[in-house]
Amino acid sequence: MLTQDQLKLAVAKKALEFVPEDAIIGVGTGSTVNLFIEELAGIKGRIKGAVSSSEASTARLKAHHIPVFDLNEVEKLPVYIDGADEINHHLHMIKGGGAALTREKIVAGVADEFICIADEQKYVAMLGTFPLPIEVIPMARSYVARELVRLGGHPELRQGVTTDNGNVILDVHGLQIMKPVELEEIINHIAGVVTCGLFARRRADVLVLGKQSGVEVLR
Ligand code: A5P
Repeated sequence: MLTQDQLKLAVAKKALEFVPEDAIIGVGTGSTVNLFIEELAGIKGRIKGAVSSSEASTARLKAHHIPVFDLNEVEKLPVYIDGADEINHHLHMIKGGGAALTREKIVAGVADEFICIADEQKYVAMLGTFPLPIEVIPMARSYVARELVRLGGHPELRQGVTTDNGNVILDVHGLQIMKPVELEEIINHIAGVVTCGLFARRRADVLVLGKQSGVEVLR
């Protein structure tokens, strides 16, 4: 029986197959990506560098002497490699467990292909068991929370967390997300919401899934 960490390591290694030669690649955030960064360090001569989705990943990339570019300097990212908190068979995701969702969505938006690396515990029939993270401008916190209650959720302020952009996170419990694309649009239209942790309009293109039986690649 492989542990969750062993499955994360297996997908981190497999993800190297999706790294194009001589390119700048997008790198996400989280414990699975941290393992991927370790693997990337081993082949760093093959890439030009990375655009990162968080201060934490930037620090790790720099510690391995992998050049980190500002997104504004880069016109094209062939791939963005990141984890997820939940992912369904349409490759819609919930992200933001690490509070980096806004930068993740921006970098993912630029990339041609989103490669999601995840262990099988993240692969679900319906999104919503993992509380949906929403990044919110601090002054709008109570208003946005009331609107989320109207949508049937139970928002909780993530204590002691300020995002890289100076905002707060509301984690919304109790949502059974039957229509991820629609819900993402509705939440993104609430004034004061910076980003909703649903990645459905920009879903993953490839899922590298770590299972007990081996690593599967789903498209
Ligand atoms: C970060 O904000 C998240 O979107 C991560 O991608 C997600 O939490 C996955 O993290 P782990 O790889 O640590 O599970």
